[in-house]
Amino acid sequence: MSEGQERAWAELSPHYLIDVPRDVSTTSVARDAHIDPATVWGRSAPLVVEIGSGQGHAIVHAASTRPDVDFLAVEVFKAGLARTMKDADAAGAHNLRLVEANAPEVLEHLLPAASVDELWVFFPDPWHKKRHVKRRLIAPEFTALAARALKPGGVLRLATDWEDYALQMVEVMDVAPGFDRAFEGEWAPRFDGRVMTAFERKGLAAGREIRDVAYARV
Ligand SMILES: C[S@@+](CC[C@H](N)C(=O)[O-])C[C@H]1O[C@@H](n2cnc3c(N)ncnc32)[C@H](O)[C@@H]1O
Repeated sequence: MSEGQERAWAELSPHYLIDVPRDVSTTSVARDAHIDPATVWGRSAPLVVEIGSGQGHAIVHAASTRPDVDFLAVEVFKAGLARTMKDADAAGAHNLRLVEANAPEVLEHLLPAASVDELWVFFPDPWHKKRHVKRRLIAPEFTALAARALKPGGVLRLATDWEDYALQMVEVMDVAPGFDRAFEGEWAPRFDGRVMTAFERKGLAAGREIRDVAYARV
């Protein structure tokens, strides 16, 4: 991290960062680690979780414009988390919390079952290579974890600039137990709360189409 990011981490993490008991690796989550959202946010409010929040553009924008909602950013990239805290602080987004952890373990252990109103995963594929396809997040194992964390009626929102990943998302989610499509036609309309990020801009500049999908937890 840069000096500024180190400083932001030291100053802002006591408010923004959730301390997580680890398993083996530094971004793992211990099996018996749980949070109580009412305690973390000090109130009872709808909860939106973004997986792979990157630099935090979407979630900081959302948190600062929707103070009545609680937001959680899940990311393994430390410099991105530091930037997110810095921007959140500047925007007065005190309803945002961050967790430095591997997202599947957050969904499986850290969050209570049926606690999340919306789960966002935007541009999860930074290195689009054939050999990475088997490591994609949106795969059958992920759907059970997402189903566990979401409330009935909660929504999973996905976006990607890679057509084959978008097709995989639909293929996986269409048959995922506990989910119904929440859009009509081939693709969902662009999600309003998804602000333009560097990844989307890069995809567009390379001539790729951006595709959104949304699935409701039944
Ligand atoms: C391509 S970036 C997209 C960032 C952001 N969503 C955006 O649209 O700008 C994907 C992000 O997902 C994060 N990521 C990848 N695997 C993850 C995991 N297992 N748990 C948490 N974050 C992860 C990466 O560190 C990276 O910041």
